[in-house]
Amino acid sequence: MRSIGVADGRLVGEDEHMSVAESPAYKQFCSSCHMPEGQGVPKLFPPLAGSQWLQLSDETLIKMQLHGINGPMIVNGEPYRNVMPANAATMSDEQVAEALTYVVKKWGTDPAREISVDAVAATRAKYAGRKEMWNVETLGELPPEQMEYLALKQSNPTEAAKVTESEGSSGFTWILIGVIVLVLIGVAIGTLMGRGK
Ligand code: HEC
Repeated sequence: MRSIGVADGRLVGEDEHMSVAESPAYKQFCSSCHMPEGQGVPKLFPPLAGSQWLQLSDETLIKMQLHGINGPMIVNGEPYRNVMPANAATMSDEQVAEALTYVVKKWGTDPAREISVDAVAATRAKYAGRKEMWNVETLGELPPEQMEYLALKQSNPTEAAKVTESEGSSGFTWILIGVIVLVLIGVAIGTLMGRGK
């Protein structure tokens, strides 16, 4: 059964009858970052569950997989400034088709959607030799939330900066503080053990 609900304050669609075991390609090439349940990792890897990006055309989703995409980008209202590596060299057309079909069926809005091997092969041929990753400027097709953000960036750069900078940097600030605290504890323990000798 397909259920649409609110998780973590967001709208999430999910077909709970599909499991990651159905797609060895998703498990091998996607789940380490986007997680088996598609929830991603806060600040680092965006969620697929509930993502407007899954409503983009087959070709756009395939392009992102083959050549990678470079942030910043907005997913479910949160900024991500990371990189999804290119998979053109590591995944076959069949594997890209299988992983993407699994993702759009399970977390997209159309449970009947299929992304075909032919579509992957055609997109691969169309962009053969491309070395650069995509980004929100070059991708050509973007979900509404990303376009809203880009419009805000045009009309009110200060507000737009608050969306990406303050939230993103506070995450990094906390990681930095965490590392410093750990180092200080390490130094303190080292000093104490040194005295004990
Ligand atoms: C090494 C980690 C990594 C792997 C592996 C990976 N991704 Fe991503 N993916 C990312 C990151 C990071 C972004 C967003 C880029 C950014 O931060 O700006 C992203 C973005 C996306 C997006 C658009 C945003 C969203 O969350 O809806 C889709 C769709 C996506 N990935 C699907 C996949 C699929 C399908 C696979 C497997 C074939 C895959 N990814 C493998 C890291 C990864």
